[in-house]
Amino acid sequence: MKVEKIRKEFPLLKNKIVYLDNAATTQKPESVIAAFRKYYESSNGNAHRGLYSVSQEATKILDESRETVADFINAEKDEIVFTKSATEGFNLLAYALESEVGRWNHVVTTELEHHSNYVPWQQLAKKTQAELKVVKYNSEKSELDDFSKYVTKKAALVAFTLMSNVTGFIPDAKSIIKKIREENDKAIIVVDASQAIAHIDIDVKELDADFVVFSSHKVYGPTGVGVVYGKKLLLDKMKPFLFGGNMIQEVKEFESTWAEVPDKFEAGTLDVAGIFAFAEALRFLNAQDSEELRAYETELKEYTLSKLKEVDHLTVLGHNSKNYGPIISVLITDLHPHDLAEICARENVCVRAGHHCAQPLMKSLEIVATTRISLSFYNEKKEIDKFIECIKKARKIING
Ligand SMILES: Cc1ncc(COP(=O)(O)O)c(C=O)c1O
Repeated sequence: MKVEKIRKEFPLLKNKIVYLDNAATTQKPESVIAAFRKYYESSNGNAHRGLYSVSQEATKILDESRETVADFINAEKDEIVFTKSATEGFNLLAYALESEVGRWNHVVTTELEHHSNYVPWQQLAKKTQAELKVVKYNSEKSELDDFSKYVTKKAALVAFTLMSNVTGFIPDAKSIIKKIREENDKAIIVVDASQAIAHIDIDVKELDADFVVFSSHKVYGPTGVGVVYGKKLLLDKMKPFLFGGNMIQEVKEFESTWAEVPDKFEAGTLDVAGIFAFAEALRFLNAQDSEELRAYETELKEYTLSKLKEVDHLTVLGHNSKNYGPIISVLITDLHPHDLAEICARENVCVRAGHHCAQPLMKSLEIVATTRISLSFYNEKKEIDKFIECIKKARKIING
């Protein structure tokens, strides 16, 4: 793959930084940045609100962008709800699905989750007095425990990730979902695609989850836009999350009725410019050879793992099978993750240290933090080499 060519599309990468924190947020191609200017210069009106041309233009852009997002995951247009982030998406679901969870039910999530796909379910279980069941992560096998131990007829909702933001682990979602359905066809299944969306093809029809949640900014789009895909029958049944303009059908003095999905869940003015820029990011990806990008990301991941193997006293979490995306967490016995990240920062190498918003996983692994590098198709092998040099430098500085 011509990595130099693709790097040219990303203005920020010209700034001599080694950006290895793509799981936190991805950089944006020029076309995504330009989309904001284009929108505000020629189409800025409030969508759905005016009869004049720019308002109609904004409405059209919103509609077309929704279609682009739907096509990207093989959904229908009215199954896509825009939020401000994946986090808001999970909170929307935890609120709007409250009536589906009763006192005798179970809410199931896993130790592997980002807090965004954990805390909303923990709080939902508290509020409804349901029992929270947490699927264990087996660190020796580096995989999630068998869901059938946790999912019974009592399960009202099961939420799990399609790719860990700490280890890159990719659970076998299709077979997990199939098993859940066999045991309990009433359980609502929510999956977190926040990391997976940038690295694996997601076809919501094939996957058969009830809800799929992700953010635009992790897939080369702007911040401020999140997506909840939901099966239409469920979205129709659910109560709204936020109240106000755009989401109503009729407001009387003491009663209101709700608009159709997706408007019912999109109260207030949406970030139409951001949504347009997000659709532009997906068009950018659609124009690439996705197989080539994926193959290159795998090659980079393998290269990184082989280089890390050469470093003394270093452990990689997981990555003992092919079921891992290009997200790698390491532990180094004589280097604290924050010291390493700080010394990397001095060298303009961007890596992440900490618990990665996954404290249940840290607790289960009996650690407090890792150093994480997360790759994109615009990264180069020489950037990995620079990170390895930083480890050596950090050792010299810290340990003398
Ligand atoms: C796996 C996972 N889920 C959810 C989120 C939350 O995404 P956002 O901060 O865009 O709401 C993140 C962000 O790091 C993540 O990695």
